[in-house]
Order: sequence, then C-alpha cells, then structure tokens
Amino acid sequence: MKRSIVITGGAGFIGSHVVRLFVNKYPDYNIINLDKLTYAGNLANLKDVEDRPNYKFVRMDICDFEAFYALMQEEKVDGIIHLAAESHVDRSIKDPFTFARTNVMGTLSLLQAAKLYWESLPERYEGKRFYHISTDEVYGALELTHPEGIEPPFTTTASSSEHHLAYGTDFFYETTKYNPHSPYSAAKASSDHFVRAYHDTYGMPTIVTNCSNNYGPYQFPEKLIPLFINNIRHRRPLPVYGKGENVRDWLYVEDHARAIDLIFHKGTVAETYNIGGFNEWKNIDLIRVMIKTVDRLLGNPEGSSLELITYVTDRAGHDLRYAIDSTKLQKELGWEPSLQFEEGIEKTVRWYLDNQEWMDNITSGEYEKYYESMYAGR
Ligand code: NAD
Ligand code: TYD
Repeated sequence: MKRSIVITGGAGFIGSHVVRLFVNKYPDYNIINLDKLTYAGNLANLKDVEDRPNYKFVRMDICDFEAFYALMQEEKVDGIIHLAAESHVDRSIKDPFTFARTNVMGTLSLLQAAKLYWESLPERYEGKRFYHISTDEVYGALELTHPEGIEPPFTTTASSSEHHLAYGTDFFYETTKYNPHSPYSAAKASSDHFVRAYHDTYGMPTIVTNCSNNYGPYQFPEKLIPLFINNIRHRRPLPVYGKGENVRDWLYVEDHARAIDLIFHKGTVAETYNIGGFNEWKNIDLIRVMIKTVDRLLGNPEGSSLELITYVTDRAGHDLRYAIDSTKLQKELGWEPSLQFEEGIEKTVRWYLDNQEWMDNITSGEYEKYYESMYAGR
C-alpha cells in the first residue's frame, strides 16, 4: 500500500535511523522528515538517503500548528511517527520551559492538526496512525537492590553473554505507574498522556512506545557514550556523575528502529509497548568497557585511559536504575534485539573513530552555522 508518512525529529539520533530504514525498505512510501534542526538536528546524518525519490526534508517547528496542518493536507499524510523532542536530561534541568514547549505543546499541536485533517476526510481515521515515541524515564527510577548484579529472570537471545545481569528484581512494565523525576521525563510523560487522551476522547488511532537508553552511530555527543568516546580520543577528562553506580538499560539504535517499523505496521491501536533488550549496565562498568575498546582500537596501552575517569557532582534528581521488561513486544509481535552488547559497543566505538569528521563538525560548532545559513529565509 502506498503511504504518506511524516517522521518528526528525523534529523536527530534515533529519527535518522528510522528515516533511513523506512526510505530503504519502503520505496513506494512518501517519507517526509519534519525537523526544526535545533542544535541536535543534523542533516549530515542522512547524507546517504537525501537524494532518494521517496524522501523529502521539511524544516518545521512541531509547535507551528498551521504549517503542520497545511503540510498534512498537501501531502495527504496518513501516518505520523513522532520522535521530535528535546531529549537531554541535563539541559532540561537548566531550561525546563523549552522542554515543556516542544515536548508537550509541540505534541499537542501535531495531535490537533492530525485530528482536524483526518476528521475532514470521508474515511476519517481508517488506515491512519499516530505513533508516539516515548522513553522508559516516564516510569521513574527503580531500586538497586543487588549492587553486584544477579541472574535476570528473563532471557533474550541478544543479551550479553559475559555480562547479562539485573540489578534488582523489579522492572518497568507497560502497567507501571508514571512517576517522572526530571523536567525531561515530566514533559515526555505529559505528552504521552495527551496522545492517549486523543485516542480515548476522539478515537484517534494512537500507539505509544517506551524505550530504554539507545546507543549507536549519530548520537549527539552530549550523551554519555559518544561524549566519552570522543573525550577518550582527545584524552580529556571523563566526567562520571556521582559514584558511577547508576544503572541504565542499553539498546542498539537500529534494534529500536526495527521495533518502530514493526509496531507502526503491526501494533494494536491504543496499546503501549515497552522496548528494551534486557541489557543493564552500571555506568562505571560501561565506561570501563568503552575505555578498553577505544584504547585497543587506537593502539593505546591497555587501560591507559582509565586515569581520565573523573568523579564529578551528581546530576540533580539522578534516577538510580532503569530496567525495561519488553516481554509483551517479544511475545506479541516477535521482536528480538539482534545484537549482543559487546558487538554493539564495538561497532559503535569503531563508527565514532571512523567518522571523526562528523564528530568534529558538531563539536566545532560549524555545522550549526552552516545549516542556519543554508536554510535562512525558508
Ligand atoms: P535527539 O535530541 O537526537 O533528536 C531530536 C530531534 O528533534 C532533532 O533532530 C531536533 O532538531 C528535533 N527537534 C527538536 N525540537 C523540535 C521542534 N520544536 N520541532 C521540530 N523538530 C524538533 O533525540 P533522540 O535521542 O533521537 O530521541 C528521539 C526521541 O526518542 C525523543 O522523543 C526521545 O524522547 C525518545 N527516546 C530517546 C531515547 C534515547 O536514548 N536517546 C530513548 C527512548 C526514547
Ligand atoms: P545520558 O546519556 O545523559 O542518558 P539518560 O540521562 O537519559 O539516561 O546519561 C546516561 C547515564 O550516564 C546517566 O546515568 C548519567 C550518566 N552520565 C555521566 O555520568 N556523565 C556524563 O557526562 C553524562 C552525559 C552522563
């Protein structure tokens, strides 16, 4: 079936992987990447697909209701995959208003425009989808009851063979009560509620997914993994918040993109799916793996970058542990993460070391100025 799909935030980290997957896999679809190109948006992430006939980039703020409504009419949009957001917890602590504006009001603006357009059609909501991408951070934080880790109660073929630990007996389920702690997660939680309200109130065919921490190529280097890889390469300090005891559950970004594809096409309307690979890591252990991998690939003496570890003041309200139970997605839709963590981190480190120009363009600030001038007046 020919479809016309808007992917918001397609110039960001996860969005660019979703756009690439859809453009490559669905030559008959009309794929529209809608992105404001904030500091986190980078069209260089999509160089390999930018000339494809089924791909189009539109620079737009998701808060611009009228522009989005016009785009829906013009492109006869029947599917929205919504990833655009302010996404960094540390920024949200400094500037919560921007997070409320984009994540809450922006999402509401998209919902309302979609409602008005789809309700104006003879078939109304038939064949339509509003798919909202959210985070496990809305569930709050879990206890760390087993600091050294235990055998997890779940198994997955892609769980790390060497590591494969759980740091507590509780997990985030689709039914876990929302309990966000940071301005970022509070804004994401609010947007999730609006999406579900549009289903319950107006009958809009919505789906929400909550995913664990992603890692892989094209992640903006303010986030832990690309920041630390780049700092190790430049022999700069590695700022570990608190004692490095916090636990995150890591998923390779292409596995998230595959889940999004599957759920967009096969997921049940009004359902929520958790996405994660049962792959918990204490920050300090993950940092040691990164150091080992970067040192090996750069030919540094083993462990020589351990001295870069610098413990700094903890993040305010720092969530202790995230751990996602994605059994529902695995059982109902047959999704499985494809990569073991050791493979994923090796691929990721190699990618950042092989794509130093991509990294340097961002960290030098040049790319922002470039795109500002390129799209000035559009
Ligand atoms: P990102 O910060 O890398 O990218 C966000 C993109 O949204 C950028 O391209 C940016 O230009 C765009 N954007 C921001 N404000 C906009 C606006 N007002 N109008 C239009 N575009 C705008 O983020 P990411 O890490 O790729 O995350 C994408 C989505 O996935 C977010 O909704 C995030 O909450 C969710 N998520 C992320 C993770 C993760 O580990 N990164 C995990 C689970 C869920
Ligand atoms: P981050 O990549 O910002 O993702 P999130 O906060 O959404 O989980 O951080 C991952 C973990 O790494 C988190 O526990 C905070 C920690 N962290 C550091 O210790 N130092 C850093 O410089 C950064 C950016 C994060």
